[in-house]
Amino acid sequence: MSDTGFPSGWRFFWLSSAVVLVIGIGVPAAHGFETDALRWGIRFTARSSAVLFLLAFVASAMVRLFPSAPSRWLRANRRHLGLAFAFSHGVHAGQIIAYASQGPQQYAAAVTPDMIIAGSIGYALIILMAATSFQRPAAMIGRSAWSILHLAGISWLWLQFVIAFGKRAAMGGPIYWFFLGLFAVALALRIVAWRRSAGQTSLPT
Ligand code: HEM
Repeated sequence: MSDTGFPSGWRFFWLSSAVVLVIGIGVPAAHGFETDALRWGIRFTARSSAVLFLLAFVASAMVRLFPSAPSRWLRANRRHLGLAFAFSHGVHAGQIIAYASQGPQQYAAAVTPDMIIAGSIGYALIILMAATSFQRPAAMIGRSAWSILHLAGISWLWLQFVIAFGKRAAMGGPIYWFFLGLFAVALALRIVAWRRSAGQTSLPT
């Protein structure tokens, strides 16, 4: 436990992953994995991933701008937030495979080739970032390659979330505008924190 009373480190990771599994798989399972329930599960894990991603994305900026026990918890748990995001998005991938296996026609109607290309790049980056969040692989690629990989990865994923929510926001639905607002605020926080930080010439972390 941390001084926020919130679970930390691996405890947080397992708790978050259990919630994602119980809701993301449990609800579709309760409906016999029928198509609409599976699509609900895909949307649920996209949103749980978005929340976990955003918490990791703003962690350092929050400590710089608003030092407090919760912001220090965020920064101390940034790695496990990232891993919890990777797990949640792994479930998203599993649900997509299950959805595709139910019928190629409905899958082809819901998933465009550009989604597959952008999504696959996103998944490759998630795997690389998750792997290099462990000490040995991180040491193997070195500090500057690590920084470039993680900055490129979070930037790509930020953009992918914004495009995915943006497409749906254009078709209507306040929840999508809400998520777009969160992503805009998160980016603004990072930019303000970066500009205020002493090392303005170094890459933002
Ligand atoms: C090849 C990879 C991927 C495929 C095939 C895929 C497929 C899908 C499908 C079919 C949906 C729509 C579910 C529905 O509306 O019924 C969806 C939703 C979504 N996906 Fe993925 N996805 C992929 C990767 C990603 C990645 C890497 C991200 C983010 C970085 C992402 C973020 C989202 C978001 C934000 C939604 C909208 C959720 C909502 O409606 O609230 N997806 N995806």
